[in-house]
Amino acid sequence: MSEIFDVLRRWPDVEAPGLVAVDAADRLILDESAELRASAQADGIVAINDTYGALTLGAAHPGASGIRTHIDALTGERALEANASRLGLADRFRPLPLDAELVRGARIVLLRLPRSLDALRDIVGLIAAHADPGVVVVAGGRLKHMSVSMNDVLREHFGQLDISHARQKSRALVARAPRDGRDPMPAGARVEGLEVRAYGGVFAGARLDIGTRLLLEHLPDAPTGGTPSDPLIDLACGTGVIGAWMATRYPGAHVYSCDQSAIAVASARETMLANGIAERVTVVRDHILGARPSDSASFIALNPPFHSGAAVTDLIAPRMFEDVARVLRSGGQLWCVWNSGLKYRPLLERAIGPTEQVARNAKFTVTVSTRR
Ligand SMILES: C[S@@+](CC[C@H](N)C(=O)[O-])C[C@H]1O[C@@H](n2cnc3c(N)ncnc32)[C@H](O)[C@@H]1O
Repeated sequence: MSEIFDVLRRWPDVEAPGLVAVDAADRLILDESAELRASAQADGIVAINDTYGALTLGAAHPGASGIRTHIDALTGERALEANASRLGLADRFRPLPLDAELVRGARIVLLRLPRSLDALRDIVGLIAAHADPGVVVVAGGRLKHMSVSMNDVLREHFGQLDISHARQKSRALVARAPRDGRDPMPAGARVEGLEVRAYGGVFAGARLDIGTRLLLEHLPDAPTGGTPSDPLIDLACGTGVIGAWMATRYPGAHVYSCDQSAIAVASARETMLANGIAERVTVVRDHILGARPSDSASFIALNPPFHSGAAVTDLIAPRMFEDVARVLRSGGQLWCVWNSGLKYRPLLERAIGPTEQVARNAKFTVTVSTRR
């Protein structure tokens, strides 16, 4: 197995020393499931929340095929595809959304535990609702990201739970006897006059992040753009709260909300429907602004991420600024909120152009950068 692990890369996600494509939790999930996988029928294996393909390709390597797989982040899904073609295993799996088809009739589910309990509840409820009654879920993670509450969430939907010994700071939870299954439902709340919808695991849930609030309070009264060909862009949209706010505050404006997370995109679509603005807001799953043409946009709003999976990293925001610079037309503006400690201003100046501070509180800074 180690020969395939040596080939795995995170690309197109950020790569740097200390950011790995496979770790001890992936190895433990594969080892704990090895016997079960050896006797599984074709199409019986499902991998959920695989980060860069270690679970899917680790299962495919000994000969399994028809593996169904779901990765929330588009960069993870693309890394899996790139890793698979390097290993000649591209025909052994199908990427699917997190819905009934992913887990219908499944016998073995390899699950990388998400950090959010609500995300875990959505996943295990879905498995319990649609998998084979004999399904075995082998769920694993790093001890530092696990809590006993995860056991409780698994017990909500499974009658039997066995817990492995810890190995290399990782642990596996093995669940059998599914019960009380249910399809994921978004949480909902009314926030600052908007309906917000959130599937488990989306940034901030059905609440307004305090950085996002500061950005919304200072967005301009009349931004340039907002036409179908030059929509106001809500980059890294999460629940879509910024996009929904722009579409309601600027009557008739067309908005484009995008995020690489499948959970975010599903949440944002529900948010737009709940506010009656879905016909003016396009929601797209994309890696940064990959689908937007160069020199095309007048206005982009952004609260950038500082996580790549479980790792905190300051490598993603600079990449976003580079892509924003590509997509903005000359004179176009990026309105951005950031944790003041990150000191993004010189980066924004360099990547985009002249950058002014619009607001600042104890924790966050809002800037507007104008494309030179
Ligand atoms: C700080 S949250 C902001 C969410 C939302 N705009 C808000 O203010 O509540 C950052 C978002 O960036 C998204 N993200 C991370 N990496 C991304 C990428 N490479 N391309 C697009 N979106 C990404 C995350 O999924 C997350 O939803």
